[in-house]
Amino acid sequence: MIAFHDVRKTYPMGETRVEALRGVSADIPRERMTAVMGPSGSGKSTMLHLAGCLDTPTSGRVICDGQDLGSLSSRRRAEFRATTVGFVFQKFNLVPNLTALRNVELPLLLRGESATSSRKKALDALDVVELGDRSRHRPTKLSGGEQQRVAIARALVNAPKLVLADEPTGNLDTETGTRILRLLRGLVETGKTVVVVTHNPEIAHEADALIALRDGRVESLSAPRADGEQA
Ligand SMILES: Nc1ncnc2c1ncn2[C@@H]1O[C@H](COP(=O)(O)OP(=O)(O)OP(=O)(O)O)[C@@H](O)[C@H]1O
Ligand SMILES: [Mg+2]
Repeated sequence: MIAFHDVRKTYPMGETRVEALRGVSADIPRERMTAVMGPSGSGKSTMLHLAGCLDTPTSGRVICDGQDLGSLSSRRRAEFRATTVGFVFQKFNLVPNLTALRNVELPLLLRGESATSSRKKALDALDVVELGDRSRHRPTKLSGGEQQRVAIARALVNAPKLVLADEPTGNLDTETGTRILRLLRGLVETGKTVVVVTHNPEIAHEADALIALRDGRVESLSAPRADGEQA
């Protein structure tokens, strides 16, 4: 679904520059789960941000469905993010004084969708993550795993084709993390393309494809086999 072609990303840092990605070429296959691994600072989040059109490459191309994301206008980029991408973060990023339902509705209300339609879609998304019965709770009354499921519901509410998760289980215990992983894995069965940044080799093992980064370069790649089994 997304192809990185010799992508470089350089950030200015005072007088010098940080080369976060140094010529990354990799494919993110459609309707599969891809894991991105690598040591801290190896460029995982940078890669995810480029795939989600949150940032543009310094050189090289990021192609999504034949479109060069780097060449889109800022309006088209915002549109791409709003219609195609759902983001899930390590720290959940929920609004603390809003209920789970309000947190999930928010992206829809912000883009001008009616209150009735927003509510229905938000309740449906909370059902997908099995939190329909917690919709009136505020984040502080929810466990870490529940908060992450609310965050996943919020990512799903726009019906994105692409779900990008940056260390979604980083703040969770192993068992809860496994549940979140299964949930993300299940999204593939509903036609979504999922990318998970993780330090957890077990999660990587569950993925269909693996991109291992080191120092801004691809250290190894494993692509899914045609029959859907892990390569
Ligand atoms: N906005 C920025 N400005 C300057 N440097 C940045 C910026 N974002 C990332 N970097 C640098 O780019 C490199 C790659 O960062 P990135 O966040 O992609 O790593 P990561 O693999 O996600 O690490 P972690 O596992 O710690 O989250 C790092 O050296 C980082 O300091
Ligand atoms: Mg990161």
